[in-house]
Amino acid sequence: MTDRTEGQEPQEPLEGAPPEEPLHPGWQTLAQVFQSTEPFFEKFLYLLGYDYSCNVYVIKGDYLSVVDPGNDYTMFMDLFRIGYKPTEIKKIVLTHGHRDHAMGAFEFIRSYPSITQTGGFELILHQESPEVLKKTVTDFGCRYKEVRGGEIIELSGLEWEVIYTPGHTIDGITLYHAPSKTAITGDTVLPHAMAGPDQKAGGRLDHYLFGVKALLKKDIAHVLPGYFAAKKNWPGNRKI
Ligand SMILES: [Fe+2]
Repeated sequence: MTDRTEGQEPQEPLEGAPPEEPLHPGWQTLAQVFQSTEPFFEKFLYLLGYDYSCNVYVIKGDYLSVVDPGNDYTMFMDLFRIGYKPTEIKKIVLTHGHRDHAMGAFEFIRSYPSITQTGGFELILHQESPEVLKKTVTDFGCRYKEVRGGEIIELSGLEWEVIYTPGHTIDGITLYHAPSKTAITGDTVLPHAMAGPDQKAGGRLDHYLFGVKALLKKDIAHVLPGYFAAKKNWPGNRKI
């Protein structure tokens, strides 16, 4: 077979053409991302957000817990392609009700309706989250649990404190795992950026400060945000 590239000069990109996107890394463990051997980070599968779908975190244990299922069913296909099963997902947490964080839960049920035959999953979300999310998940044969902040929830064998962090939306929550000093922050804390208050979703800047002050009372070293890269031992000025 002739090598069609033989003797050809590499072509310059056309003027005005969009730059080629780097290859997406796909599912990784946080241990891989952090280049760490700590067993805690081995428990996390992590999919970097892209387009209109946020970072997705999967906590492994006797079952799988998903925190923010994003907005793209193909990420579930990829997860099951590497050996996990739809029936292993028993809990899905939403840090808030924005579609780029939440709609993956419904894409999951729609794509794998047989999961309801083995109990489906529990959707955990703030009590102020959109009612349509609660109705839809029950219509599909699963169930939901409302939180307000202050609860301890168990996800795949790990206990997480729910911290109410409104401001970006009225229903924002952060999950905090004290023993590891790890917080899953949704859009409340983002590296190098701030998600503005979404007034249509009840966001308010003064509420934002309430949430950030609540986080500052915690000893947080590792931040797993809704967008951009997860941060291990994230330094910074934590005073406001
Ligand atoms: Fe958001």
